[in-house]
This record gives sequence, C-alpha cells and structure tokens, in this order.
Amino acid sequence: MLDVLNTVWKNDSFELDVVHAMTSITLQIMGLAGFGTDLQAIKENVTYDQTRYTMPLKEAITLAASNAVIARFQFGNWICDNAPFEKFRRLREAIRNTDKYLNDFISARSNDTEQRYDLLSLLIAAKSEETGTTGLTPTEIKSDSFIFLFAGSFVLSYLQFLGHETTASQLMWTLWLLATHPEIQDKLLQEVNEVFGDRERLEHDDHEKLKYTLCVIRESMRLNPPIASVLKEAVEDDVIGGFKIPAGTTITAQFYTIHRDPTLWEKPEEFIPERFDEHNAHKIHPTAYMPFSLGSRKCIGFLFSLTESVFILAHIIRNFSVSRTEEQKRNGFVPVPQQVITIQPKELTLQFTRRAKQRL
Ligand code: HEM
Repeated sequence: MLDVLNTVWKNDSFELDVVHAMTSITLQIMGLAGFGTDLQAIKENVTYDQTRYTMPLKEAITLAASNAVIARFQFGNWICDNAPFEKFRRLREAIRNTDKYLNDFISARSNDTEQRYDLLSLLIAAKSEETGTTGLTPTEIKSDSFIFLFAGSFVLSYLQFLGHETTASQLMWTLWLLATHPEIQDKLLQEVNEVFGDRERLEHDDHEKLKYTLCVIRESMRLNPPIASVLKEAVEDDVIGGFKIPAGTTITAQFYTIHRDPTLWEKPEEFIPERFDEHNAHKIHPTAYMPFSLGSRKCIGFLFSLTESVFILAHIIRNFSVSRTEEQKRNGFVPVPQQVITIQPKELTLQFTRRAKQRL
C-alpha cells in the first residue's frame, strides 16, 4: 500500500478528493485481502475513472453495485430483471459479466497449487470438520466472494458495499474531523510518531499500540456511522419501551440517532475521542454505540475494518497534515451527507501537506 501511495501522493502539498481516494484505497485492500488480486484501484489522481479494472469489474462496481441497489429499491426486482429498457439491460449485462469473471477467476485459482492466504483461497480450501470433505460448493464460494467485493444480486449488491465502501466512508469522515480539529490531529500524530519510531512502516503488532488512533476512529463512527440504521423483523411478540411489537413487525435501529442521544452521551455533537479510551470506555452503555450493529448478525468484518483503518490513518497522519482548503475556510464549507447505502460526504476535497522529513 505504501509503495502505491508514495507514487500517487508524491507532491509535498496538494488538494485531494478524499471521497475517491479513500474508496480506491479500501477497494485495493479488499482486492488483495479477498482475492490476492491487484485491482489497480489506486492511480495517479485516484479516481475510479483512472482505474484499470477490466470492464466487467468496473461495471460491477459502478452499475451492478450502486445503481442496482437503488434501481431495485425504486422499481422492484421483477422490473429490474425483465424490463427491456437500456438502464436495466446494462445492469443485467454487468451482473452477467461479473458472474463470468468470477467463475473464470475461481476455476483458475482452484487449479493453482501456490500456497496463498487470501479469503478466496481459504474458501476454496475450507473443509467440513466432521466429514473432512470440501465444505463449500463452487456456487457458495462465488456467492461468498461476491459478498466481500462484488455484486451479483440484490442482496449481494448490498453486501458489496460492506466490504470496502463502509470503511471508505468512515475514513472520509475521520479525515474531515481531523482537518477541523487540529488539536486532536496533533495528539494523534504524537501517538503515531511514538509507535513508528525510526521506522517507515508499521508491523501487524503495532495495531495494538495505536490506542488513540482507534479512539479517533470509534468516535468518528459515533458521529457519522457509515451505515446509519438497519431493519429487523420481530420473530416473536415483544414489548419495547412500553410499546407492543407483534411478531412479524419490521423495526429499525437508528444508529445515527442513538449515537447522538443526549440522554446517552455527554456533549453528543462534539468530537471527543477520549470517550473511548481506557478510562472512559466502560461508561458507555452497551447498546448506545453500534456502528457495526449488535447481536448475531453483527458485522463480521468489523475487526478487519478497524485494523485496516488504524493502519491507513496512521500512515496518512504520519506523513501528511490534513486541513481544510483555503477556499473551504473562506466559504465556511461543511460536507453534505449523502445516503446511498452508506452515508458519505457528497463532495470532500482536503488539503494535504507533507510533514517535514517524513517519507512514505
Ligand atoms: C466501517 C466499516 C463497516 C461498518 C460500519 C459495517 C457495518 C455493518 C452493519 C451495520 C452490518 C449489518 C448488521 C445487521 O444486519 O445487524 C454489517 C454486516 C456485514 N458486514 Fe460490515 N461493516 C463494515 C465493514 C465491513 C468489512 C470490511 C467487511 C468485510 C471484510 C464487512 C462484511 C460484512 C458482512 C459479510 C455482513 C453481513 C453479516 C450477516 O448478515 O451475518 N463489513 N456491517
């Protein structure tokens, strides 16, 4: 990752479209961790348009993922699957192409004898503990692969976002909060510098030492949970807060509202990472904070995401100071949240300035 960033962010001072940059970085990481594949998602100006996906993959990301989800919400599954209109035809084609790409990729990997540790290799090698037989069928392997990166159906299109868009959204908001809270950025830099020491790269075990970095990320997700709410169906009759909930009722858990509830949080609108440090974290009510949801369907990627975010943020802050652009300061710019599946800033460009004597 560092080598790629070094190539892309080689200037000492530049304005960066962090919406595209963070999406590209997390997508690149999902490609490597999930498939051992360099998706080449990070290019000179770090936009999707500059990436070198094969066409099916690019289509999968831009069409089959985001547009398919919205279209299916708006028009329903049957229309999306059958209507002869250009938009739906392109969506179906994108999904078919992606399906074919993954089939080819999985079958090539199945015959590959090299020892690898990415998700796809683990799925292919998975065996039933009881019978010792192969645990997953090719279709299951493909579905699980989709879940982590791509899109294949409505449900999987939704889940594609979970693999990289969620972490990307979180990083965008975190960088904005750091740009507008220089004193917190300084405190973060102090920890990051201590952990880096004379080294240019972090090792896996450094993750545990970056405690304040993790507090910054957790607090950022309190204020701006990438997924603002989830829907759940009551499996049996229940009573919540005095309200009868009959079985079959759909209820929504609004993370965004809960995370800013003044009865649960002191100064709920303020960015205070110390809430999550070792002195204060125990004061947080167990259900007051749930960016990854709670219960049996809690996000299974949460540790992956937190580890990834800590490293990305530490490397960025070690090498660059992040601030608002001059124009944003003049105009009093505040990012506008936009919900597709995750909540992201509609547009966010920030000023990056290389710190003295630091090199990626
Ligand atoms: C900041 C980053 C992330 C956030 C905020 C997030 C949030 C969530 C939420 C709210 C759910 C729904 C849970 C529910 O229905 O109750 C979920 C599910 C899921 N997430 Fe994440 N996620 C993140 C990163 C990731 C990553 C990096 C991966 C994959 C490596 C991932 C994979 C999944 C999967 C597979 C599910 C479905 C789990 C199931 O239905 O049992 N997520 N995530």
